[in-house]
Amino acid sequence: IYQKGTFGSRTLPKVTTDPNKLEEQARAALPPTSYGYVAGGAGERATMDANRLAFRQWKLIPRMLRDTTKRNLEIELFGEKYDSPILMAPVGVQVIFHEDKETGLSEVCSELGVPYILSTASSSSIEEVAEANGAGPRWYQLYWPQDNDITQSLLKRAKENGYKTLVVTLDTWALSWRPTDLDNAYIPFVKGVGDRTGFEDPVFREKFEQQSGKTPEEDIQGASKAWVGEVFSGAAHTWEDIKLLREGWDGPIVLKGIQHPDDARLAVEYGVDGIVVSNHGGRQLDGAVGSLEMLPEIVDAVGDKLTVLFDSGIRTGVDVIKALSLGAKAVLVGRPAIYGLSIAGKQGAKQVLQGILADLDNSMGLAGIKNIQGCNRSMLRRVQYGG
Ligand code: FNR
Repeated sequence: IYQKGTFGSRTLPKVTTDPNKLEEQARAALPPTSYGYVAGGAGERATMDANRLAFRQWKLIPRMLRDTTKRNLEIELFGEKYDSPILMAPVGVQVIFHEDKETGLSEVCSELGVPYILSTASSSSIEEVAEANGAGPRWYQLYWPQDNDITQSLLKRAKENGYKTLVVTLDTWALSWRPTDLDNAYIPFVKGVGDRTGFEDPVFREKFEQQSGKTPEEDIQGASKAWVGEVFSGAAHTWEDIKLLREGWDGPIVLKGIQHPDDARLAVEYGVDGIVVSNHGGRQLDGAVGSLEMLPEIVDAVGDKLTVLFDSGIRTGVDVIKALSLGAKAVLVGRPAIYGLSIAGKQGAKQVLQGILADLDNSMGLAGIKNIQGCNRSMLRRVQYGG
């Protein structure tokens, strides 16, 4: 690769391998509204910054003269084997980034053996993505509707279409203060683009038609509003409601958006199978702590009782090693893959994910780590350089 350059192949699109240049390339490829939506965060982006700063505070201590010529990246989650510890984070409305959208991204994730987590706020339906993803591993992310009939209908469709694990996102029960989108007067859900899951849901359709006398297609604006009201209504669920999810889902349940060790303990108490330590990539509560900062404490509190996953701020293979060494069993990657999708469609996203996987594999070798179990706290030192 070094002789040819990663751009050496004439057939592959030019997607940068430099994590710090990806955002810039995506900006050039996207309309300002879509770019603002993916690259933006809540408030003054203090939490987005903290997500990256938290990674900078941990450094690897490489080990020598270990035979790490061949590395094994395999992991097991909830009794299933996966090729690597990387999952595609749920990201809504992918059609605003490229026409390949969720179907294309889930197809290349399948080729890479990377589990694809489909968002409730998707621009391809549960069924279309299952078909595109084929034999690949797929999970379903729930934005939890207020109406339990609609919730049960979504869970039923996800189950029938081979989604293995349910990821329930808890941190987005109301939309946050996102200045870029506010200034652009931009919300991708109100024009019918991010609502396929909802519009195609038979229970949602029936209820909407009863209430409005129209089909969602006849009143896209009204149906979008009704759907947004279901999932981002500003009315939160509570811990007791977890049992409603169990009614319609017999597979693993993972709560996404946990940041406090006490919430992690409650997750154990309420019998869920896993959590994602995440602050939604700094897109919800600005001023919140960098996600990696909370990981060790949460792992110490509950790591032996449920499966701890991590996201928010992963940009490189080395970041993956750090999160795993602090006790996460796997990580979710959000923006980088979406930048790749924006730059060059599904092939662009594939190259970005392949790049992170290759960097992970290579860096594990250089650090003297042979397999995922070798990622542990003995590999890390907390540092504070500079002022
Ligand atoms: C997201 N995220 C997200 N999460 C979720 O549970 N459902 C969703 O529909 C979305 N949508 C979404 C859109 C966009 C454009 C982004 C960037 C993110 C959050 C996502 O799953 C993940 O938590 C973060 O992206 C992780 O942070 P990084 O990797 O982007 O830093």
